[in-house]
Amino acid sequence: MALDRRPRASEGRILVLRLLPWLLLIGLIGALSYLRLLDLRLSPLRAQARTLLEQGIALTGSELADLSRSALVLGQMPAIGVAAASADTSAMASALLAHARASPRHAEISWIDENGQERVRTEHLDGVALLATSGTLRRPAQMPWLTHFADLLPAEARFSPLGREGGRHTLRAASPVYDAGGRLRGMVVIQHDLQAMMARLARLQQPALDPLRLYDSEGRAVSIAEPQPLAVRDPELWRVMQEQGRGRRELDAGMWHFQDFLPAEPGPGRLALQPWFFLAHVPRDSVEPLRLASAWQCLLACTAAFGLAVLLVRRQRRTEVERERLLADLQTNHRALAEAKAGADDALRRLRQLQDELVQAEKLASLGLLVAGVAHELNTPLGSARMTASTLVRRLGEAERELGAAALPAPVARLLERQRAGLDIVEHSLERASQVIRLFKQLAVDRGAVERRRFELDEVLQDVRRLLVPRLGSEAPPRPVPVSLHIASGAGLVLDSYPGPLGQVIENLIGNALMHAFDPPPPGLMQGSIRVLCRVDPADANDDGDGDRRDELEIEVIDDGCGIDPLVLPRIFDPFFTTRRGRGGTGIGLHLCHHFCTQVLGGRLLVETCPGEGSRFSVRIPLRAP
Ligand SMILES: Nc1ncnc2c1ncn2[C@@H]1O[C@H](COP(=O)(O)OP(=O)(O)OP(=O)(O)O)[C@@H](O)[C@H]1O
Ligand SMILES: [Mg+2]
Repeated sequence: MALDRRPRASEGRILVLRLLPWLLLIGLIGALSYLRLLDLRLSPLRAQARTLLEQGIALTGSELADLSRSALVLGQMPAIGVAAASADTSAMASALLAHARASPRHAEISWIDENGQERVRTEHLDGVALLATSGTLRRPAQMPWLTHFADLLPAEARFSPLGREGGRHTLRAASPVYDAGGRLRGMVVIQHDLQAMMARLARLQQPALDPLRLYDSEGRAVSIAEPQPLAVRDPELWRVMQEQGRGRRELDAGMWHFQDFLPAEPGPGRLALQPWFFLAHVPRDSVEPLRLASAWQCLLACTAAFGLAVLLVRRQRRTEVERERLLADLQTNHRALAEAKAGADDALRRLRQLQDELVQAEKLASLGLLVAGVAHELNTPLGSARMTASTLVRRLGEAERELGAAALPAPVARLLERQRAGLDIVEHSLERASQVIRLFKQLAVDRGAVERRRFELDEVLQDVRRLLVPRLGSEAPPRPVPVSLHIASGAGLVLDSYPGPLGQVIENLIGNALMHAFDPPPPGLMQGSIRVLCRVDPADANDDGDGDRRDELEIEVIDDGCGIDPLVLPRIFDPFFTTRRGRGGTGIGLHLCHHFCTQVLGGRLLVETCPGEGSRFSVRIPLRAP
């Protein structure tokens, strides 16, 4: 389980990493889509707000235009001019009263003389236009708004700031009065009642919006009742309105569209007029459902898009994994193919080697059989000759004793002496010939002729060591360089084989190294060494491809002597080949070793050598002989 979890976790990490850019992209597109969608949904509300503002401005504009016109008409009316010039208050009163009756929303119309004294005033009481009594006429101090009309120009109508009198919103408009001689004779001031206009403003409606609001230049609500001025209630909005004049502000709490309004266009020499402001409010309740709907729509679309991305990425990843798997399979197959080819090449090489060895073995075996056959044939006559020679020697001795050596004539004694010497040479030569024949006969030794048993390798190695010690000891003939012998332990290695031939092979190989490897020694060598190493090759390491798999024992006899000349090497296993002919070599030793290894022990005898560096003879035999 623990093993499974790790690849799955890393697979999960890969998917997450691949999905991350998608997530960001979809998130970004989702956010932009949300804004665009919301914008589209809000645009009808914005249009409503603009319409409401335009309606309010149009309505107010026409009302103020009427008022301005009325003031101008009164200011320039000739009857009023004449009445003012003659200070005829009754003529003035009748002129103003006539106008007041025709304009019920002009709450008051006053004539104020050039000294700032109110001289005539009409009022409306219960819808009836009346003249104010002379006792109620105002002095300049009672008319603070007069300051706004101080510098009226000819043919100008000017508004005072919005005011509140008797709980009603009022606005004054004034126009100067001149007499026929062009002298200023005061002004006509109309106090206009805005309640009707406010009621009409309040009736302007758009389905999703609050009623339109009108603010004076101080931020006080005019069209509807608000406890605090806008400048106090929402200073930020008020600041933006004043700065921008016209625009919109959209917040979570709703949308505000505003536009400033100048009651009259500024003219040359006039005081700068403070603008009023119209404000259309789209309440949160109208905006919120649109926001929610847009958000949900975008969220759903993003979720669907992300789901699609997950499917795509997973599919792409699956394809990738499959491709990687196929690639890995391909590589594995490629490796297996390469290994199989190497194995086949190796098997072919070993086969060729075995073929060569077989040819060599067969050649040597037939040569050995020939030699053994000849030896066998020579054995009998040689035995007769040896017996005859020894009989002749014995009879010659008997004859000498019978005749008495001293009594023999000198020529006879010399003849007998020479014959004895001759017979000694014959006997000695026959003895040596017999030894060689005995050796040759060993070439006929087969598995039936030697003892087979289970034995420990060390047992054989101990015997070899015992036999060779005299040849290395102080009594041994002197050598060109001292030679050390190291034989590894074979303890624990048990064979079911032929201990006699195996011992003979190892002894021969060590004997050869002693005899040939260090005489002469390679240049510079002060101390020669001969090592015998043993190891077991398990069955699978020496599979020769023929299906016959056995544990194999390898015994190596290694010397660091002069090595074998490449010209000599191909012949060293041939019978009678020696480089020491006449100096104690018969050339049968390696041939015999080869014979024992291949024909008796069921193995092989291999040699590697390098001139000047030494030789390595390897005996490879099965632990269990065939
Ligand atoms: N370890 C060795 N180093 C160098 N030459 C070697 C070695 N072993 C064998 N030879 C060469 O191989 C030849 C053949 O060896 P082989 O044992 O058959 O004959 P031999 O030793 O000369 O005579 P013998 O019949 O007494 O053994 C030798 O004459 C020698 O030239
Ligand atoms: Mg030899």
